Amino acid sequence: MNIIRVENYEEMSKEAAGYILKKLRENPRITLGLATGGTPTGTYQHLIEDHLKNGTSYKDVSTVNLDEYIGLNPDHPNSYRFYMNDALFNHIDIPLEQTYVPQGNAVDCQEECERYEKLIKNLGGIDLQLLGIGSNGHIGFNEPGTEFGSRTHIIDLEPSTREANARFFASLEEVPEKAITMGIASIMKSREILLLISGASKKEAMVQLLHGEVTEKFPASILQLHPNVTIIADEEALGLE
Ligand code: GLP
Repeated sequence: MNIIRVENYEEMSKEAAGYILKKLRENPRITLGLATGGTPTGTYQHLIEDHLKNGTSYKDVSTVNLDEYIGLNPDHPNSYRFYMNDALFNHIDIPLEQTYVPQGNAVDCQEECERYEKLIKNLGGIDLQLLGIGSNGHIGFNEPGTEFGSRTHIIDLEPSTREANARFFASLEEVPEKAITMGIASIMKSREILLLISGASKKEAMVQLLHGEVTEKFPASILQLHPNVTIIADEEALGLE
């Protein structure tokens, strides 16, 4: 794994945006795997600024998001579809029909998982997958114990994940208990992975990711086996501050 050390969140965001833009220039028809949460918002802001300033176009780009809460409509302010539109898609020239997020309000969520997995395949797979990490090592919403062979599936969220994400909701009770997430195997099939880690709360996760054993108890540890992973980590996450 290639590690890029940066000073802080802002530097991480700038570096990540630069990394994505380089890949986009090399391949204007790139399929990007995108993530939500607090970590990538700064990166998306930089992409928007670049679009406005330099006119970088996303008209031939496709995006697939990692996950979505079950039970929230796409226009719910806490749905990941809403997040993506608000944080990025509405501010660049990507046609919304080329942006994919699992449908958490599907009548049959199991069927939705199968549809989503096929969709990724039909897009030709993911060229570059952007990832954050939960402090318990989750990637996407693959909580500890998720099988490494898993494809897009329904997951019960851990109490600690619901608590961590409650900051985006009015109360903990409002945080959904289930989500649809790309599986570990779906993520591992991406040709390249860009993982962002910032802040002291991710310090333990960073240590486990770099030095821990590869185990389903810590889902992100599987990334040690991926041939093309770049980590952009700030000093707090690296325990250098
Ligand atoms: C969330 C998301 C993940 C994200 C992680 C970390 O629950 N499902 O995709 O990487 O948890 O979130 P944050 O970036 O807010 O710390």
